[in-house]
Amino acid sequence: EAMLAWQRTAYHFQPEKNWMNDPDGPLFHMGWYHLFYQYNPDSAIWGNITWGHAVSTDLIHWLYLPLAMVPDSWFDINGVWTGSATILPDGQIVILYTGDTDTVDAVQVQNLAYPANLSDPLLLDWVKYPGNPVIVPPPGINSSEFRDPTTAWFGPDGTWRITLGSKVNTTGISLVYQTTNFTSYELLDGVLHGVPGTGMWECVDFYPVAIDGSTGLDTSVNGPGVKHVLKASLDDNKHDYYAVGTYDAVNDRWTPDNPEEDVGIGLRVDYGRFYASKSFYDQNKKRRILWGWIAETDSEDDDIEKGWASVQTIPRTIVFDNKTGTNILQWPVEEIESLRLNKTEFQGIELAPGSIVPLDINGTATQLDITAEFEVDTETILDLDATDVSYNCSGAAAERGTLGPFGLLVLANDALDELTPIYFYIAKATDGTLKNFFCADKTRSSMATSVERRVYGSEVPVLDGENFSMRVLVDHSIVESFAQGGRTVITSRIYPTQAIYGAARLFLFNNATQVNVTATVNVWQLNSAFIHPYPLDQI
Ligand code: FRU
Repeated sequence: EAMLAWQRTAYHFQPEKNWMNDPDGPLFHMGWYHLFYQYNPDSAIWGNITWGHAVSTDLIHWLYLPLAMVPDSWFDINGVWTGSATILPDGQIVILYTGDTDTVDAVQVQNLAYPANLSDPLLLDWVKYPGNPVIVPPPGINSSEFRDPTTAWFGPDGTWRITLGSKVNTTGISLVYQTTNFTSYELLDGVLHGVPGTGMWECVDFYPVAIDGSTGLDTSVNGPGVKHVLKASLDDNKHDYYAVGTYDAVNDRWTPDNPEEDVGIGLRVDYGRFYASKSFYDQNKKRRILWGWIAETDSEDDDIEKGWASVQTIPRTIVFDNKTGTNILQWPVEEIESLRLNKTEFQGIELAPGSIVPLDINGTATQLDITAEFEVDTETILDLDATDVSYNCSGAAAERGTLGPFGLLVLANDALDELTPIYFYIAKATDGTLKNFFCADKTRSSMATSVERRVYGSEVPVLDGENFSMRVLVDHSIVESFAQGGRTVITSRIYPTQAIYGAARLFLFNNATQVNVTATVNVWQLNSAFIHPYPLDQI
């Protein structure tokens, strides 16, 4: 009981109870950030999908609002599924979402909705356009594989475009529709992009990034100095993949910079438990912000027992990484720093091979914001032959390599029989080049049965002159980990049974056999965000 209560997060967004999945239609309006989400009002498992609704002035302190849209019309009676918002130049807001028509035919159609009263900052009432659906599956497309429209962007021909995911045989594709009024649409020839073998593309996201990495861009921006990111959520393996490329707005074609790292076969947005992400342009602070769904990794029975399932990530700013030129950078929105309480600094901690060092932070270690830098002794590395050549976050952190793992142990108990290592691991190739990995090991996170046990992670670029650096957010049962300023990100949903409440501890470790590491760490305890219902009776 106490263990289940402890699992609820303190500063991540989650509903008061029941099931949640994808983030939907994020937007900023009249001083308020709006988050909608796939929600089952009746149970902790997926079903009866409605749009839950919450607002915040800072993306951290949320207020629950009444449901925004429920499945009450023939065109969405089996579910008000995922969709996106577009703010038009005159300030109007339009939402396009997928409706599932009924359980028998289960036709996926696209519907239009808009606020009943734009001058209401809370956007409490939503009108479903009476002419819905506005888009039905075209010939050649399976009616149950056609969903999740994006935010619209404005083309050089003066009309709007949206894209949405589907598949043909096993090729994942993104179809493009053109519109002037959001009520009638024309399917354009061909596809924005498609990748053989990737299967159904859910929750496509498509947005520009500034090549100089300086700022976020509104969705319609294009031209010199701009690249476009295309993201798809792969229904086949439940991971979000993206690639950076170029958008030809005249022919509505997107081309990846590197075809070998195309959408679905290359980079992942997050290498942990993370799916159905969606970004929006925040015109308030001129940045692009990403939300992602963190699903459970325990059993459905456990979810029913605890009465809720899933959490949203901390919203992350996205910019292009102008240092590598190949990836985006994700970073927790700056507002999260307003939750920082006391800070404890640890400087120059020597981590000899095989060491574990407790970090005493004078308080509980369940709500933390940690930054850690690791300096490795490169002289030793130069002298070594090839090491751990085929490593790819494959072994658990208990397995020792020559040049790794080293990093943090979060949500660990004193006996170290429950712990979650977040770590770097260096592999030296036969040609002498170094490959750096960032991993999160869930094999010992919980003594509970029927929870996922595995190691997540991937390669992370570490450039000349850079130390290894990570930022880790710990929020009870959620750990979000960002390496090298957000080049590689791993979200973990874990279920500690011992390392909870006052028994949770934080450690540094170096389980390499050959390399000395020096660590510098800052740890802040984070306050709770105290999410609660908006007091509507007081307006
Ligand atoms: C992704 C998804 C979407 C769909 C929604 C239904 O998790 O399957 O494709 O619109 O969830 O809840």
